[in-house]
Amino acid sequence: MSLLDTLREGLSDVESRGLTRRRRTAETPCAAHMNIDGRDIVGFASNDYLGLAAHPALVDALAQGARRYGAGSGGSHLLGGHSRAHVQLEDDVAAFCGSFVDAPRALSFSTGYMANLATLTTLAGRNTTLFSDALNHASLIDGARLSRADVQIYPHGDIAALAAMLDACESDAKLIVTDGVFSMDGNVAPLAELLALAERHGAWLVVDDAHGFGVLGPQGRGVLAQLALRSPHLVYICTFGKAAGVAGAAVIAHETVIEWLVQRARPYIFTTAAPPAVAHAVSASLAIIASDEGDARRAHLASLIERTRGLLRATRWQPVDSHTAIQPLIIGDNETTLALAARFQAEGLWVPAIRPPTVPVGTSRLRISLSAAHSLDDLARLEAALGRIATGDEA
Ligand SMILES: Cc1ncc(COP(=O)(O)O)c(C=O)c1O
Repeated sequence: MSLLDTLREGLSDVESRGLTRRRRTAETPCAAHMNIDGRDIVGFASNDYLGLAAHPALVDALAQGARRYGAGSGGSHLLGGHSRAHVQLEDDVAAFCGSFVDAPRALSFSTGYMANLATLTTLAGRNTTLFSDALNHASLIDGARLSRADVQIYPHGDIAALAAMLDACESDAKLIVTDGVFSMDGNVAPLAELLALAERHGAWLVVDDAHGFGVLGPQGRGVLAQLALRSPHLVYICTFGKAAGVAGAAVIAHETVIEWLVQRARPYIFTTAAPPAVAHAVSASLAIIASDEGDARRAHLASLIERTRGLLRATRWQPVDSHTAIQPLIIGDNETTLALAARFQAEGLWVPAIRPPTVPVGTSRLRISLSAAHSLDDLARLEAALGRIATGDEA
């Protein structure tokens, strides 16, 4: 069979299992109210948790950064692409959320995916045993695979199971890797228990806080700050394309860890540095996140989260154990989930269907993502649609 025939067969298999993914095209900035595929909708799909993606101050900072530094970085960080804006961002973010470790330093990346690949492939190798939560994000899974470590997957959030695996592990080098907030469930990892286990077993703990940074903890400093955790064996990854509303990511750890990444992390070394203007805009975003405005946005978001949980309790789909902006409705099979997403769409609401392999088979879901950009009126529309759809006959 030719490659094209194989691909056609693969595509029709994906289609027959209700797994075809379709990109929707936004004509307007990321916001609560958007024009998507030519239709005006209220969006409950973005990770723009604080509603900063189209914030005028960030748009200005991006433009100002481009005027000061140009459109592109022109090279990799080690070959000419490293600018004053990257240095400033790294200093800013290390000061903002590095208090979990002495001598914190940050390293910026163009995406969270790259940051995760870099961290795991550089800190773990053939002699490492890497313990990974079963629901970790794909970028951590890929980083673990690429690292060539012995990867052991522990059941989601299961401290007892992980303790037994660590007890049985004879490797000297051990790395525990977890999402801080799980991206498709919204729950927070049991980080205090994970850190205690790590310390007891001489392991390191890597926390990917893509969905907690900017939202959780004092001034949005993230999930480690929320729990006041501290250890020299912690590595923290935050992303800037979600609550921060821009793009990119940073790894924060003891300065020696970061220097090792600079020397050895292939996804850091062999790629063009992100445009300095982006780093400049992220620094402006950090200032908003840390400000009274950031507090007000987090307070509004928190009230939307609790209201939404109340709405879900009134439906036959109960809320899951999430007190973050991610509020999934677990439906089960792909067809029903797609049919329900289409019903929301017909009501002018974008509530995306999430299917395997993003989530385990049989747990397809609608993922409601809340943002400080949503108004109480937007939530009232969600409530009305939920009321009508939950009494429909799709599920
Ligand atoms: C938990 C988690 N980690 C990492 C990433 C990757 O971040 P980025 O979108 O910046 O590549 C995402 C989502 O995209 C995520 O949900």
